[in-house]
Amino acid sequence: MYKTSRLFGFLAVAALALAACTTPATPGTSSSATATSEPQGSSGGAATSAPATSEAQTPTAEATTSAASTTAVTSTEASTTTAASTTAVTSTEASTTTAGTTASQLAVGIVLPTKDEPRWIQDETRFKDALTAAGYNVEILFSQGSSAQEKQNVESLITKGIKVLVLCPQDSAAAAAAADSAHNAGIKVISYDRLIRDTASVDYYVTFDSVAVGAQQGQYLVDKAKDKGSPLYLYAGASTDNNAFIFFEGAWEVLQPKIADGTFVIKNSGEADGLKGKPKLSRDEEAKIIGQITTNWDFNTAKNLAESNLTKAQAADKGNVFILAPNDGTARAIADAFGADKDVKSYTVTGQDAEKASVQYIIDGKQSMTVFKDVRTLVKGAIDASVALVQGKTPAAKGSYNNGKVDVPAIQSPVITVDKPNVKATLIDSGYYQASDFTGLQ
Ligand code: BGC
Repeated sequence: MYKTSRLFGFLAVAALALAACTTPATPGTSSSATATSEPQGSSGGAATSAPATSEAQTPTAEATTSAASTTAVTSTEASTTTAASTTAVTSTEASTTTAGTTASQLAVGIVLPTKDEPRWIQDETRFKDALTAAGYNVEILFSQGSSAQEKQNVESLITKGIKVLVLCPQDSAAAAAAADSAHNAGIKVISYDRLIRDTASVDYYVTFDSVAVGAQQGQYLVDKAKDKGSPLYLYAGASTDNNAFIFFEGAWEVLQPKIADGTFVIKNSGEADGLKGKPKLSRDEEAKIIGQITTNWDFNTAKNLAESNLTKAQAADKGNVFILAPNDGTARAIADAFGADKDVKSYTVTGQDAEKASVQYIIDGKQSMTVFKDVRTLVKGAIDASVALVQGKTPAAKGSYNNGKVDVPAIQSPVITVDKPNVKATLIDSGYYQASDFTGLQ
């Protein structure tokens, strides 16, 4: 999916060096994280910890670490050169900078999928931090899980005179219409985190290394599984999100050899089990599997599916179980369901996003790992690219993603595996979160 000139060395696998940690089955309560303001920080480069993935899909080390070093235009430059050329994009928030001076109106609009998931509140907070620090005033709108609302948001930003749209699509294919509207109005379109599919109206893609996200999740389970015949339960994101495919692809590359050799036995997907001999899956094959194990990125769907899988499973299908959970919100819901089952002796469960509630779960031993995606890096990439595009420049790219119609120039940020042994070093000592955000931290 991601194409680059290849160096493709196998990147350092920090996760492999971490002490074995299997989460005991402790019943927990379902947790819905409350989004709170996060501390402001500088764009930071998290160390890459990507397990081996195939040549065709593994971005180069150069590409994986590129985001932090890419600066299309510096903020100081940008704030002086863009202010005069921008048209009004109003916002009631952030109308002044932290220094109390009037913020420049950067002709950019940002549309994020939903306020109901802490992941996207993280992005909003980090955007506000970075934009305020750079002295910009930019409107951020939420689509609340609705492609219709998303289209309306985009139309409203078009009428306000934006020159660049930063869009994280609710539904990768449905967003093509919104991207087309913007492009027809002469607006440049940046796909943010999730790829907008099946349209030529996407100029640039700012994302994380999503193959590595799935691969790190898969690798974590592989590293913890010692016995042949270990029960494996698979869960995936929403099939309307292109990332759900990429995450699954990355995980499958690592898990499949261990399913084929009998280390793992899939317990909840006949489709995946039927394809266990195939190292590489087609998108259609992935779609069939995802159709069976989708959480739709929804906590309740995840909880209900896990409970239904557990109800159908025999006691012999439980014991010490391994769970591929696609992100933190679904991981907590799934972990709660497995933790409450009397035949589950222990579970190892993955996640991603380093949401505060999941960081607390990791500290408490209720979630095994998360994949930390430093949103500050992504936000910086999007702002740098926006400023470059407003100025008529071409943002630096390190490869491309095919969106079903065109190859979209892309830049991707590294990700890192976090579990109990490194949670403090990675998330607190780095200044991403504060120790006071958590209890029981050592
Ligand atoms: C994002 C994840 C997020 C998920 C659910 C994905 O596209 O990359 O970080 O957890 O959507 O919102």
